[in-house]
Amino acid sequence: MLLENKVAIVTGGDSGIGRAISIELAKEGAAVTVNFRHNEQAANEVRQQIEQAGGKALVVQGDVSSVADLQKLVDHTVETFGRLDIMVNNAGMETRTSTIDSTEQDFDTVIGVNLKGPFFGTQFAAKQMIKQGDGGRIINISSVHEDWPMPGNSPYCCAKGGIRMLTRNAGVELAPHGITVVGVGPGAIDTPINKETLAAPEKAAALNHAIPLGRVGEPEEVAGLVAWLASAKAAYITSSTYFIDGGIMQGSVGL
Ligand code: BGC
Repeated sequence: MLLENKVAIVTGGDSGIGRAISIELAKEGAAVTVNFRHNEQAANEVRQQIEQAGGKALVVQGDVSSVADLQKLVDHTVETFGRLDIMVNNAGMETRTSTIDSTEQDFDTVIGVNLKGPFFGTQFAAKQMIKQGDGGRIINISSVHEDWPMPGNSPYCCAKGGIRMLTRNAGVELAPHGITVVGVGPGAIDTPINKETLAAPEKAAALNHAIPLGRVGEPEEVAGLVAWLASAKAAYITSSTYFIDGGIMQGSVGL
């Protein structure tokens, strides 16, 4: 197992990519705090699945755009499992609104969840890891859209661009403490965020066609990369992003 005796937090661990990450980290031996905002039942199902497989899990409610909730998340984890080794800033959402159409509320909500959350999640996790004195891993779930426009999803792209620089900046700042900060940039993955697109046959076909590997990814495929990045095997990786996108960012019609 890659993560024996490690303790991890996964924000938005009840759904989509976060759910798969929670289960995968536990499978590799980590005790996992599964954070959720709305869906307690889904979070409890993840906890049960982990426990049934012989792992350890804790469920903590919290909105990552609230610094008080993030502090509570770290505190509960440390009270329960004694320490924190791996922070996965995963929770994310999108409004699919353009630069012209986005309201102040669209912007604030998306930036709050997708950028303020990872920023203070990184800060609180790093403070705890520095106190422990033996390093740690912070993994920010970004997107191909940290670096690649998605017309009609402007606040989301702005937030992901911010995560890109959070990963780079915090990685440099925290390196002297042995804490690595790594971004994971998924492409189109079969999760609730893409439910509408995937439910419309024409849209789904267009999406699959745009992906060189010809299909959307599975949450478990992203989770496998995250578990590896969280492990000792990835000790020399920091301040950069790993894309896992079936080649979508490099898609070319071959002019
Ligand atoms: C977005 C999806 C989009 C995918 C590929 C993700 O970050 O959340 O809506 O389909 O990127 O463009």
